[in-house]
Amino acid sequence: MLYYAAPMEGITTYIYRKAHARWYGGIDRYFTPFIADRKMTPRERRDILPENNTGLTLVPQILANKADDFLTIAKRIASYGYDTVNLNLGCPSGTVTAKKRGAGFLCDPDALDAFLCEIYEKCPLKISIKTRLGVSDLKEWNRLLDLYAKYPVHELIVHTRLLQEFYTGRPHPEAYADAIERLRCAGIPLCYNGDIISWESLQNTVDTVIKNTPAVRGMPGAGGLQQTNPAAGAPFPERYDGLNRIMIGRGLLRNPALVKQLRCSGQTGKDTVTEGGPDLETLRAFHDEILDGYRQIMSGDLPVLFKMKDLWAYMISSFTESGTVNAHPTAPCAATAPASTSHVRKNAAAYLKKIRKADRLSAYQIAVDNLFREQCP
Ligand SMILES: Cc1cc2nc3c(=O)[nH]c(=O)nc-3n(C[C@H](O)[C@H](O)[C@H](O)COP(=O)(O)O)c2cc1C
Repeated sequence: MLYYAAPMEGITTYIYRKAHARWYGGIDRYFTPFIADRKMTPRERRDILPENNTGLTLVPQILANKADDFLTIAKRIASYGYDTVNLNLGCPSGTVTAKKRGAGFLCDPDALDAFLCEIYEKCPLKISIKTRLGVSDLKEWNRLLDLYAKYPVHELIVHTRLLQEFYTGRPHPEAYADAIERLRCAGIPLCYNGDIISWESLQNTVDTVIKNTPAVRGMPGAGGLQQTNPAAGAPFPERYDGLNRIMIGRGLLRNPALVKQLRCSGQTGKDTVTEGGPDLETLRAFHDEILDGYRQIMSGDLPVLFKMKDLWAYMISSFTESGTVNAHPTAPCAATAPASTSHVRKNAAAYLKKIRKADRLSAYQIAVDNLFREQCP
């Protein structure tokens, strides 16, 4: 299984990615948040500078609906040595879709077709696409699949929701099964994205996809992720080319160790995600590196606080959702080590409130120190 870290505008900056790669790793590809400026802003340039992205594989993402804009940005990206770019056809934000960009472009398949025709003809880089299933009706998906099948799409990353569903409600893994059937002949690799937050959610997604993919239902190993019989080889997804790439966004922000734990679960067949809790020492080191990184590049407390608070909106879940806390992991699969009892789970909201209220970095540090200190037995 290949695991990708999803682009999250404002959050998965190079500071975040580098810290994640150093303290957790396990990610096959990180994707930058979208680049939309033809000239690229200094911030966008810094975000893709190779020296800011050492030790990880990065795919820069472009948001555009004019071929000329796309090609101009791609050329700049190529000058930094990248060989692949990703096209954003998934962003549901009103400011983006109002200009028919991101998922907003999906409402005009003819214009999208002309755009794809030109960029695939002229762009020297490999182009992967991150798409949604359509704008407002799942029936749009078939037309989009026909469109994508016409081009040498390097990889199609599918967020299994419609534009109108934003990030809420149940995703539609069945639609991903349709894509497997439809794009198999076109030889386009697929990557699944949407609500993978645990071993259980990954299992359920794979099971649903298998149930809806007649061609693979009867294949040996199509029994789901739990298959751990050594005689049968690697667990199912390792051997199944329909669903062997997963992109994770919010789940990884909430639990930065998630991919490591999913890999471990894949090897052992046991749920190592919920059995343990966060390794506090690593989480603290990860947090401190991100904080230091922002302090070095931003002036004044407020912009740094803004970034850190955005991150805590997700990271607080490490203290609330994963059960008990594992302060001193020793086992190779850290999350399976014996866990100590969390004192903080019930009070996580209060700690988050203090972090959010901090208007100086000194107050922020105290709030974070308290949160981590209270967790330690
Ligand atoms: C705050 C936020 C920012 C995002 N920024 C981007 C972006 O720049 N480019 C993009 O393709 N997707 C973006 N996304 C979508 C994510 O990459 C991902 O597709 C989405 O969160 C669903 O995956 P998940 O269920 O694993 O979180 C963003 C999502 C959120 C919540």
